[in-house]
Amino acid sequence: MKENIQQIHVLITGGAGYIGSALVPMLIEKNFKVTVYDLFNYGSESLIACSLSENLTLIKGDIRDEEKLKEALKYADIVVHLAAIVGYPACSKDPELAMSTNVLGTKLLAKNMRKDQKLIFSSTGSCYGAIPDGFCSEDTPLSPLSLYGQTKVEGEKIVQEANGISLRLATIFGISQRLRLDLLINHLTYKALTEKHFEVYEPHFRRTFLHIRDVARAFVFTIENYEKMQGQVFNVGSDSLNFTKLDICHLIKNALPDCVITPTDSGTDADKRDYQVSYAKIRNLGFKPTVTVQDGIKELMSFLPYLSDQFIKQTTNV
Ligand SMILES: NC(=O)c1ccc[n+]([C@@H]2O[C@H](COP(=O)([O-])OP(=O)(O)OC[C@H]3O[C@@H](n4cnc5c(N)ncnc54)[C@H](O)[C@@H]3O)[C@@H](O)[C@H]2O)c1
Repeated sequence: MKENIQQIHVLITGGAGYIGSALVPMLIEKNFKVTVYDLFNYGSESLIACSLSENLTLIKGDIRDEEKLKEALKYADIVVHLAAIVGYPACSKDPELAMSTNVLGTKLLAKNMRKDQKLIFSSTGSCYGAIPDGFCSEDTPLSPLSLYGQTKVEGEKIVQEANGISLRLATIFGISQRLRLDLLINHLTYKALTEKHFEVYEPHFRRTFLHIRDVARAFVFTIENYEKMQGQVFNVGSDSLNFTKLDICHLIKNALPDCVITPTDSGTDADKRDYQVSYAKIRNLGFKPTVTVQDGIKELMSFLPYLSDQFIKQTTNV
C-alpha cells in the first residue's frame, strides 16, 4: 500500500488550521507528498513538527487569488479543501469575507481543477440547522440557520457539480497544534477548569461530536476510498457521539467533580443548532471513529492548564 501511494500529492487549502495541523502529519507519516496552501491567519507554528519532512511544502496564498491557486494546483493529485472562515461568529463578524472566502474561493478552486484531480470538501453538520425529529441522513433537506451554514451548503453544491466529495463533519473536540477553544466540548472543558462555575443555556439542544484525530482519519479514509465515495456527501461522526449539551456537562462534571455547571433555560444559545445525525452511510463503508468524548475531555484536562496565555489568545476564530 505504501509503495502505491508514495508519489501521491495532496494539496491542502487551509492546512495550517485546527484540522489541517492534525491531518498533515498523518499524511506525511503515510508517505504522501503534501502542499499546504494557506494564508496562515494563525501562523505556521502548527506545522513545525513536520518541518524536517521533505514531503511538506508551504505556500502562503489566498484561496481567492486565482493565479496563485492555479500555480499551486499544478502538481496536485488530490485537493483537500479546508480553507474557510469557520463558525457562525466569525462569519457574522465579516459576512462579505465569509461569502467571498467560503463560496467564491470554492468556486475558483473547482473551476481551476483538472478532470483527473480529486476534490474532498470539509463541510459541516451546520448545514442541517435545527431538525426536531429523528436522525438527519445525507438526504435530509438542508436548512442552515447561520451564514456559516449557508456558505457551506453553497460550497457543497459547487463540489457536487465538480463530482467531488463533501464530508459533513460533526462538531470537533480535542487537541491539535492549532487549537480551537470556541468548539463546544473544548470551550466547556476550558470553562470548567478555569471558572469552576458556569451556566449552560439551552441544555436540551442535541449536538453531535467527533475527535480531531478521527476527523484526520476520515480524510485519509476518503482519499483511500475515493472511487467508492466520489460525487457523494457523507456525514462523518458516530451514532454513539450524539449527545445533548446537558449530557456533555455531565461528562465534564464526572471528570471534574469540583466544578459546578448550572443548566438554565433563562438565556439563549446564539448557536441554534439542534439535531441528531445518522452516520450509517460512512460506517457501512468501514469508517469507525475511535475516540470517546470521555477520552477527549481527559486529554483536554491534561493540556489546557499549562498552555501559555499567548497560545490561548489564538484559540478562538473571532
Ligand atoms: N472544527 C470543526 O468543528 C469543523 C466542523 C465541520 C467542518 N469544519 C470545516 O473544516 C475546515 C477547517 O476548519 P478548522 O476548524 O481547521 O478551521 P481553522 O480556522 O482552524 O483553519 C482554517 C484555515 O484556513 C485558512 N484560511 C482562511 N481564509 C483563507 C483564505 N482566504 N485563503 C487561504 N487560507 C485561508 C486559515 O489561515 C486557517 O489556517 C473549514 O472548512 C470548516 O468549515 C470544521
